[in-house]
Amino acid sequence: MEVVILKDAREVGRAAAGVFAALLRRKPDAVLGLATGSSPLPVYDELARLHVEEGLDFSQASGFALDEYVGLPADHPEAYGSVIRRDFASRVNIGPASVHTPDGTAADLEGACAAYEEAIAAAGGVDLQILGIGTDGHIGFNEPGSSLASRTRIKTLTEQTRRDNARFFSSIDEVPHHVVTQGVGTIMEARHVVLVATGAGKADAIHGLVEGPVTAMCVGSVLQFHPHTTVLIDEAAASSLK
Ligand code: F6R
Repeated sequence: MEVVILKDAREVGRAAAGVFAALLRRKPDAVLGLATGSSPLPVYDELARLHVEEGLDFSQASGFALDEYVGLPADHPEAYGSVIRRDFASRVNIGPASVHTPDGTAADLEGACAAYEEAIAAAGGVDLQILGIGTDGHIGFNEPGSSLASRTRIKTLTEQTRRDNARFFSSIDEVPHHVVTQGVGTIMEARHVVLVATGAGKADAIHGLVEGPVTAMCVGSVLQFHPHTTVLIDEAAASSLK
Protein backbone atom coordinates (compact mmCIF):
# COMPACT_ATOMS: atom_id res chain seq x y z
CA MET A 1 0.00 0.00 0.00
CA GLU A 2 1.35 3.43 -0.85
CA VAL A 3 0.02 6.43 1.05
CA VAL A 4 0.35 9.90 -0.44
CA ILE A 5 -0.54 12.97 1.65
CA LEU A 6 -1.56 15.96 -0.46
CA LYS A 7 -2.62 19.52 0.27
CA ASP A 8 -6.36 19.42 -0.36
CA ALA A 9 -9.25 17.69 -2.11
CA ARG A 10 -8.37 19.31 -5.44
CA GLU A 11 -4.84 17.87 -5.37
CA VAL A 12 -6.21 14.48 -4.34
CA GLY A 13 -8.63 14.65 -7.30
CA ARG A 14 -5.86 15.58 -9.70
CA ALA A 15 -3.57 12.80 -8.53
CA ALA A 16 -6.31 10.16 -8.77
CA ALA A 17 -7.42 11.39 -12.20
CA GLY A 18 -3.80 11.18 -13.32
CA VAL A 19 -3.84 7.45 -12.53
CA PHE A 20 -7.02 7.02 -14.63
CA ALA A 21 -5.53 9.03 -17.50
CA ALA A 22 -2.31 7.02 -17.55
CA LEU A 23 -4.31 3.78 -17.61
CA LEU A 24 -6.63 4.94 -20.42
CA ARG A 25 -3.69 6.05 -22.54
CA ARG A 26 -2.07 2.64 -22.07
CA LYS A 27 -5.29 0.61 -22.26
CA PRO A 28 -8.15 2.50 -23.98
CA ASP A 29 -10.65 -0.30 -23.27
CA ALA A 30 -9.93 -0.29 -19.52
CA VAL A 31 -12.60 -1.42 -17.07
CA LEU A 32 -13.13 1.35 -14.50
CA GLY A 33 -14.56 0.79 -11.03
CA LEU A 34 -16.69 3.79 -10.05
CA ALA A 35 -17.68 5.12 -6.64
CA THR A 36 -20.32 7.65 -5.64
CA GLY A 37 -20.46 10.05 -2.68
CA SER A 38 -18.50 13.25 -2.17
CA SER A 39 -14.95 11.91 -2.19
CA PRO A 40 -14.63 11.05 -5.90
CA LEU A 41 -16.24 14.30 -7.13
CA PRO A 42 -12.92 16.16 -7.58
CA VAL A 43 -11.62 13.10 -9.45
CA TYR A 44 -14.59 13.21 -11.84
CA ASP A 45 -14.20 17.00 -12.21
CA GLU A 46 -10.59 16.53 -13.27
CA LEU A 47 -11.44 13.64 -15.61
CA ALA A 48 -14.09 15.83 -17.26
CA ARG A 49 -11.48 18.59 -17.66
CA LEU A 50 -8.94 16.15 -19.13
CA HIS A 51 -11.58 14.92 -21.57
CA VAL A 52 -12.62 18.41 -22.72
CA GLU A 53 -9.23 20.11 -22.70
CA GLU A 54 -6.84 17.27 -23.49
CA GLY A 55 -9.05 14.84 -25.39
CA LEU A 56 -8.80 12.04 -22.84
CA ASP A 57 -10.78 9.31 -24.58
CA PHE A 58 -13.27 7.06 -22.77
CA SER A 59 -15.00 5.75 -25.90
CA GLN A 60 -13.72 2.19 -25.49
CA ALA A 61 -13.78 2.12 -21.68
CA SER A 62 -16.46 0.57 -19.51
CA GLY A 63 -17.45 1.18 -15.90
CA PHE A 64 -18.97 -0.68 -12.96
CA ALA A 65 -20.38 1.17 -9.96
CA LEU A 66 -19.70 -0.22 -6.51
CA ASP A 67 -23.21 -0.14 -5.19
CA GLU A 68 -26.85 0.92 -5.48
CA TYR A 69 -29.66 1.64 -3.06
CA VAL A 70 -32.41 -0.97 -2.88
CA GLY A 71 -35.86 0.32 -3.70
CA LEU A 72 -35.08 3.76 -5.15
CA PRO A 73 -36.57 4.05 -8.65
CA ALA A 74 -33.82 4.03 -11.29
CA ASP A 75 -34.65 7.64 -12.24
CA HIS A 76 -34.49 8.92 -8.62
CA PRO A 77 -31.79 11.67 -8.56
CA GLU A 78 -29.98 9.94 -5.66
CA ALA A 79 -30.08 6.44 -7.15
CA TYR A 80 -26.43 5.68 -7.80
CA GLY A 81 -27.08 4.98 -11.48
CA SER A 82 -28.31 8.60 -11.77
CA VAL A 83 -25.43 9.91 -9.66
CA ILE A 84 -22.77 8.16 -11.77
CA ARG A 85 -24.40 9.48 -14.96
CA ARG A 86 -24.59 13.03 -13.58
CA ASP A 87 -21.19 13.23 -11.89
CA PHE A 88 -19.12 11.23 -14.38
CA ALA A 89 -20.56 9.48 -17.43
CA SER A 90 -22.43 12.44 -18.96
CA ARG A 91 -19.27 14.57 -18.76
CA VAL A 92 -16.96 12.28 -20.75
CA ASN A 93 -17.43 10.19 -23.90
CA ILE A 94 -17.94 6.82 -22.24
CA GLY A 95 -20.78 4.87 -23.93
CA PRO A 96 -23.92 5.06 -21.72
CA ALA A 97 -24.51 1.32 -22.24
CA SER A 98 -20.98 0.61 -21.02
CA VAL A 99 -21.66 2.00 -17.54
CA HIS A 100 -23.21 -0.53 -15.19
CA THR A 101 -24.75 -0.28 -11.73
CA PRO A 102 -26.19 -3.11 -9.67
CA ASP A 103 -29.98 -3.36 -10.08
CA GLY A 104 -31.54 -2.26 -6.81
CA THR A 105 -35.07 -2.53 -8.20
CA ALA A 106 -34.96 -6.18 -9.34
CA ALA A 107 -37.70 -8.50 -8.07
CA ASP A 108 -34.96 -11.13 -7.72
CA LEU A 109 -32.22 -9.17 -5.97
CA GLU A 110 -30.04 -12.21 -5.36
CA GLY A 111 -30.19 -13.05 -9.06
CA ALA A 112 -29.28 -9.44 -9.86
CA CYS A 113 -26.24 -9.67 -7.54
CA ALA A 114 -25.06 -12.88 -9.25
CA ALA A 115 -25.61 -11.28 -12.67
CA TYR A 116 -23.50 -8.28 -11.63
CA GLU A 117 -20.63 -10.52 -10.58
CA GLU A 118 -20.88 -12.31 -13.92
CA ALA A 119 -20.88 -9.04 -15.86
CA ILE A 120 -17.71 -7.85 -14.11
CA ALA A 121 -16.01 -11.18 -14.82
CA ALA A 122 -17.19 -11.16 -18.46
CA ALA A 123 -15.65 -7.69 -18.89
CA GLY A 124 -12.32 -9.12 -17.73
CA GLY A 125 -12.38 -7.71 -14.20
CA VAL A 126 -11.84 -4.17 -12.96
CA ASP A 127 -8.52 -2.57 -13.95
CA LEU A 128 -8.77 0.48 -11.72
CA GLN A 129 -11.16 0.91 -8.81
CA ILE A 130 -11.74 4.32 -7.25
CA LEU A 131 -12.88 4.02 -3.63
CA GLY A 132 -14.01 6.34 -0.88
CA ILE A 133 -14.19 5.18 2.72
CA GLY A 134 -17.04 5.54 5.20
CA THR A 135 -16.50 7.12 8.61
CA ASP A 136 -17.02 3.57 9.98
CA GLY A 137 -14.34 2.19 7.64
CA HIS A 138 -16.69 0.71 5.02
CA ILE A 139 -15.63 0.29 1.41
CA GLY A 140 -18.44 -0.09 -1.07
CA PHE A 141 -21.23 -0.55 1.45
CA ASN A 142 -19.49 -3.34 3.27
CA GLU A 143 -20.32 -2.22 6.76
CA PRO A 144 -18.40 -3.28 9.90
CA GLY A 145 -18.66 -7.03 10.39
CA SER A 146 -18.84 -7.80 6.66
CA SER A 147 -17.15 -10.96 5.49
CA LEU A 148 -13.78 -10.07 4.03
CA ALA A 149 -14.43 -12.73 1.35
CA SER A 150 -17.92 -11.46 0.44
CA ARG A 151 -19.28 -11.07 -3.09
CA THR A 152 -21.98 -8.73 -4.45
CA ARG A 153 -24.98 -9.00 -2.14
CA ILE A 154 -27.65 -7.12 -0.21
CA LYS A 155 -26.47 -5.25 2.89
CA THR A 156 -28.19 -3.22 5.58
CA LEU A 157 -26.76 0.25 6.13
CA THR A 158 -25.73 1.18 9.66
CA GLU A 159 -27.51 4.12 11.26
CA GLN A 160 -24.22 6.03 11.09
CA THR A 161 -24.01 5.57 7.31
CA ARG A 162 -27.66 6.54 6.90
CA ARG A 163 -26.96 9.68 8.96
CA ASP A 164 -23.82 10.40 6.91
CA ASN A 165 -25.79 10.05 3.65
CA ALA A 166 -28.85 12.00 4.83
CA ARG A 167 -27.24 15.14 3.39
CA PHE A 168 -28.13 13.90 -0.09
CA PHE A 169 -31.83 13.54 0.80
CA SER A 170 -34.38 15.93 2.30
CA SER A 171 -34.50 13.89 5.51
CA ILE A 172 -32.92 10.78 7.02
CA ASP A 173 -36.26 8.99 6.67
CA GLU A 174 -35.77 9.00 2.90
CA VAL A 175 -32.37 7.25 3.06
CA PRO A 176 -32.94 3.60 2.11
CA HIS A 177 -32.03 0.96 4.69
CA HIS A 178 -30.68 -1.53 2.17
CA VAL A 179 -28.19 -1.53 -0.67
CA VAL A 180 -26.71 -3.91 -3.18
CA THR A 181 -22.94 -3.68 -2.93
CA GLN A 182 -19.93 -5.34 -4.47
CA GLY A 183 -18.44 -7.57 -1.81
CA VAL A 184 -15.06 -7.12 -0.20
CA GLY A 185 -13.79 -10.12 -2.17
CA THR A 186 -15.10 -8.53 -5.38
CA ILE A 187 -13.36 -5.22 -4.67
CA MET A 188 -10.12 -7.00 -3.74
CA GLU A 189 -9.94 -8.46 -7.27
CA ALA A 190 -9.56 -5.03 -8.87
CA ARG A 191 -6.05 -4.85 -10.29
CA HIS A 192 -5.34 -1.37 -8.90
CA VAL A 193 -7.28 0.35 -6.12
CA VAL A 194 -7.07 4.11 -5.61
CA LEU A 195 -8.73 5.19 -2.36
CA VAL A 196 -9.40 8.89 -1.86
CA ALA A 197 -10.37 10.55 1.43
CA THR A 198 -10.34 14.13 2.64
CA GLY A 199 -11.28 15.94 5.82
CA ALA A 200 -10.87 15.29 9.53
CA GLY A 201 -14.05 13.20 9.60
CA LYS A 202 -12.14 10.44 7.77
CA ALA A 203 -9.04 10.51 10.02
CA ASP A 204 -10.07 7.55 12.22
CA ALA A 205 -11.10 5.43 9.24
CA ILE A 206 -7.78 6.20 7.50
CA HIS A 207 -5.88 5.29 10.66
CA GLY A 208 -7.72 1.95 10.74
CA LEU A 209 -7.18 1.39 7.03
CA VAL A 210 -3.45 2.11 7.03
CA GLU A 211 -2.22 1.33 10.54
CA GLY A 212 -4.92 -0.66 12.25
CA PRO A 213 -5.05 -4.42 12.50
CA VAL A 214 -6.80 -6.07 9.57
CA THR A 215 -10.30 -6.49 10.89
CA ALA A 216 -13.84 -6.75 9.59
CA MET A 217 -14.69 -4.00 12.08
CA CYS A 218 -12.78 -1.57 9.83
CA VAL A 219 -13.35 -3.20 6.46
CA GLY A 220 -10.97 -0.86 4.60
CA SER A 221 -8.06 -2.38 6.55
CA VAL A 222 -8.28 -5.46 4.31
CA LEU A 223 -6.63 -3.35 1.61
CA GLN A 224 -3.38 -3.96 3.52
CA PHE A 225 -3.55 -7.38 1.78
CA HIS A 226 -4.18 -5.91 -1.67
CA PRO A 227 -1.15 -6.07 -3.98
CA HIS A 228 -1.62 -2.60 -5.51
CA THR A 229 -3.47 0.01 -3.47
CA THR A 230 -2.76 3.73 -3.57
CA VAL A 231 -4.24 5.87 -0.77
CA LEU A 232 -4.53 9.57 -1.66
CA ILE A 233 -5.51 11.76 1.30
CA ASP A 234 -5.27 15.34 2.48
CA GLU A 235 -3.55 16.43 5.69
CA ALA A 236 -6.77 16.42 7.73
CA ALA A 237 -7.58 12.83 6.76
CA ALA A 238 -3.96 11.92 7.58
CA SER A 239 -4.07 13.59 11.00
CA SER A 240 -4.48 10.37 13.04
CA LEU A 241 -1.59 8.55 11.30
CA LYS A 242 1.48 7.94 13.48
C1 F6R B 1 -20.06 4.99 -2.58
C2 F6R B 1 -19.50 4.05 -1.61
C3 F6R B 1 -19.16 4.45 -0.23
C4 F6R B 1 -18.56 5.86 -0.11
C5 F6R B 1 -18.32 6.21 1.34
C6 F6R B 1 -17.74 7.59 1.51
O1 F6R B 1 -20.28 4.37 -3.83
O2 F6R B 1 -19.35 2.91 -1.95
O3 F6R B 1 -18.24 3.54 0.30
O4 F6R B 1 -17.36 5.91 -0.83
O5 F6R B 1 -19.54 6.13 2.04
O6 F6R B 1 -18.68 8.53 1.08
P1 F6R B 1 -18.28 10.07 0.92
O7 F6R B 1 -17.24 10.13 -0.13
O8 F6R B 1 -19.56 10.75 0.50
O9 F6R B 1 -17.78 10.50 2.25
